[in-house]
Amino acid sequence: MDGIEMLKTRRSIRTFAEKKVEDKIIKEIINCARLAPTANNVQPWIFVVVRNKELKNKIAQITGRNGSFISQADVCITIFCDDVKYYLEDGCAATENILLSARYYGLGSCWVAGDKKDYAQEVKKVLNVPENYKLISIIPLGYVEEKVLEQVQNITKKPIEEIMFIDKFDKR
Ligand SMILES: Cc1cc2nc3c(=O)[nH]c(=O)nc-3n(C[C@H](O)[C@H](O)[C@H](O)COP(=O)(O)O)c2cc1C
Repeated sequence: MDGIEMLKTRRSIRTFAEKKVEDKIIKEIINCARLAPTANNVQPWIFVVVRNKELKNKIAQITGRNGSFISQADVCITIFCDDVKYYLEDGCAATENILLSARYYGLGSCWVAGDKKDYAQEVKKVLNVPENYKLISIIPLGYVEEKVLEQVQNITKKPIEEIMFIDKFDKR
């Protein structure tokens, strides 16, 4: 799969197949995450990869409507950043790298909100992450049935004509 196809076909996946994701793929995905752009090259992130079933269930329960499907995924990557000036931008860049590289490796994923959520503190506590870190996002990952992949491609996206401007914004 080339880079543009990977990018254009990534969609949020909330239903996963019961198939194990190989450790070496997870490591490659984290490798892609750590190469994301980061303001002043601070790299404030840490990635806690959750494979333990009880812990995944606990996170699914804590995140409620946002992440109830996390329990179904074989792996759940949680992204935290140290509380530096650009923690959110850096953490989001790393998050996107995870979503895209997951797609490259044939995995489905979904960005589950972290920062700004009331449950962020509790997730941090459950995973034993120190106080100075902020939860950026939670990403369940897993293989996907073909029919699920087809269904999610139908999601409506704004047309380019509505959102792209040359030189200056103009009312249309
Ligand atoms: C900052 C952010 C937070 C999100 N939080 C959640 C979430 O908590 N639960 C969820 O199911 N999806 C969440 N999403 C996924 C969006 O719902 C999804 O990206 C959007 O509907 C567009 O669909 P697509 O990813 O398939 O293109 C989040 C996405 C972003 C960027």
